[in-house]
Order: sequence, then C-alpha cells, then structure tokens
Amino acid sequence: MPGRPPISVVDPADDATLEAWHAVERASILPERPHAVLTSPRHRVEGLRHPTPYLSTTLLVARDGTDAVGIAEVGLPQDDNLHLAQVEVCVLPSHRRRGLGRALYDEAARLAADAGRSTVIGEAHTTEADQGATAFAEALGFTSVHVEDHLVLGLPMPDERRRRLEALAAAAPRAAGVEIVTWGDHCPDELLPGYVRMRSQMNADEPRGELDMARVPVDEARVRAGEALIARSYAGVVAAARRVGDGSLCGYSRMLLEHRSTVAVQDDTLVMPEARGHRLGLALKLATLGVVEREHPGRTSIHTWTAPDNHAMLRTNLALGFVAVEVLHEMQRAL
Ligand SMILES: CC(C)(COP(=O)(O)OP(=O)(O)OC[C@H]1O[C@@H](n2cnc3c(N)ncnc32)[C@H](O)[C@@H]1OP(=O)(O)O)[C@@H](O)C(=O)NCCC(=O)NCCS
Repeated sequence: MPGRPPISVVDPADDATLEAWHAVERASILPERPHAVLTSPRHRVEGLRHPTPYLSTTLLVARDGTDAVGIAEVGLPQDDNLHLAQVEVCVLPSHRRRGLGRALYDEAARLAADAGRSTVIGEAHTTEADQGATAFAEALGFTSVHVEDHLVLGLPMPDERRRRLEALAAAAPRAAGVEIVTWGDHCPDELLPGYVRMRSQMNADEPRGELDMARVPVDEARVRAGEALIARSYAGVVAAARRVGDGSLCGYSRMLLEHRSTVAVQDDTLVMPEARGHRLGLALKLATLGVVEREHPGRTSIHTWTAPDNHAMLRTNLALGFVAVEVLHEMQRAL
C-alpha cells in the first residue's frame, strides 16, 4: 500500500528508539487494557543487549516521518523449541485499520521463517467489551489454542480475610510434613537441585492447551541465568515447602515485582503431586503475600493467570480474593 510507514529493525544500542518503542507499546495497550502488565522496559533492553543462551529477541519499529507509530517483537528460543517464534504487534490507535499491524506481522514472520521457524505464537487479551486483539490475530490466520483468566487481587488484603485464610492454611505444613522457607532473587545453593526439579515439574504440569511448545526440563545453569537477568529489573519473592525429614522440596510459589512499580506478578505456584491435598498451595501463596506486604509495602495489586479448568488453583485464587479482569488467549499459526 503506498504511503505505509517503513519498518526497520531496532538497534539494541539506540536508546532513543528503544524509548520510543516502549512508548508506542504503552500507548497502544494501556487505554484499552487498564489491567495490562507490560514487560519491564529495562528487562527487555537487558535481554536485547545481554541475551542469555536461551532466547534471542529482535524489535521492529514502523515510523510515520520521524514518529514511531507501530512496533513488533520477535522472540526466538535458542536452546529448545527451535521451531517456534513468539511475536507481539502493537499499533497506535491513531494508525489502526490501515494494514500496518498486518505489515508488522508479515515482517516478523519473515524473520521467523528466515530463522527456520515453522510455528508462530502470540498472546491476545480480550474483555467482553473488546475482542480486537483476537479478531486481528484470527484475520492473520491464528487460532486460539489455550485460554487463561487474568486475575487481580487488590492490596492490602483486608484483615478479616487474611485471618480466615491463615486459619485455613495453618495446619497445611504439619499435615504435609514440611516447613516453609523463603528467598528473594537467588535460590540458596543447597536448595537449588530441588528447586530445579520443581521448575521442571512446573513446565511439565502447567496447562497449555494445544500450544505447540515442547515441555523441556530446566537445569541449574538455566535457572541461574534467568535469576541473573530478572534481578536487574525485578525483585523476586519465592516461598518453598521443605520436608522436615530429608530437607527435600515439594512445592513453591514465586512472585516478581518490577522495580519502581506498584504491581506484583505471581507467575508460578506448584505443589508436587505427592504433597497435594493439604492446602499447601494456599500456605505458599500466603507466605509470598506476607513477604510482599512486609518488604514491598507500596504494592497495590497482585496479578496472576490461571486456566479456567485448573480447578485447584482457581479455587485457591478466588479464596484469596482474586477477581477475573480479562482473558488471555495463546494464539498460534503454522508458517
Ligand atoms: C491489534 C492491532 C495490532 C491491529 O493493528 P492494525 O494496524 O489496526 O491492524 P490491520 O489494519 O493490519 O488489521 C488487519 C486485519 O485485522 C482485523 N482487525 C484488526 N483490528 C481489529 C478490530 N479491532 N476488530 C476486528 N478486526 C480487527 C481486520 O480483519 C483487519 O483487516 P481490515 O482492516 O481490512 O478489516 C492494534 O489494534 C493494537 O495495537 N492493539 C493493541 C495490542 C494488541 O492487541 N496486539 C495484538 C495481539 S495479537
């Protein structure tokens, strides 16, 4: 189409363009999705400038004159899932429905195909009032292959609810024969082998619908590389259940708190199969909540994502007071 803004690859050393890229992302997403949790810009830039051996990221920008008006991100796994590309596309409201989103996607798909990828995945969030993101992705040939509810819990938690939940969870550690330990950005060395096993189990167990993503076990190097990258932009809070007898780990819950933000993200919660049925998931979540309220008192909300058919996790989240604010669709298409 004549006059369409040209698209170029962002130079990871170009601070001004990176700032403009993130400004377009915010201005494209936040007006329609006030509950959206965006990746920390600092985290993205660190990942671009100092990539781990596990993910390579390319950013695209479309300019109208000198102004950035559309963006895309292409993430290519480097160690596993070499058939996959993860793509995000955003266009400023002022420049929509003129084919720019499609042009950005086409360019992202070209980069993915050049790298030998055969499947593209991306996230699309909807509410009852707005299904533009899935409509766009479907117009490009994607289908929704997995759905999760995006849930939000306001902080601080009312005292009455906290007391009730603490009473509910109080017997869990003794019933499961564990004590609860916590750490921040860096798992203590002596707990690392058990933590790695649980992170692998999380990868194996997490519901993912028809997402064409291989479930790879993690190893110590990968967990440490992730911790080091994340710690530059987020504070971590992990609570884990350690068996009193042999010191082995059988459950954990993890939160990430972007520096200088009011938001906390609860991303993983796992209770190993043999330790389930004692409300340990609730006890672990309350332990992370306690650390957040004591050590990060400025946080006003916790966000998490749960598959609607993950009944145990959903019941725990609803008991904590989480409410659903939007739906996340994992969209997928073959190249
Ligand atoms: C989704 C988004 C990138 C679309 O950008 P865009 O430049 O308007 O997209 P295009 O003009 O290339 O649209 C391509 C096709 O997608 C479909 N589409 C795009 N937006 C749509 C909407 N809001 N409702 C229904 N269909 C839509 C249409 O079929 C459209 O073709 P048409 O305009 O000829 O009817 C933009 O709305 C945006 O940035 N939204 C916020 C971020 C986001 O949701 N990203 C996508 C996640 S998958």
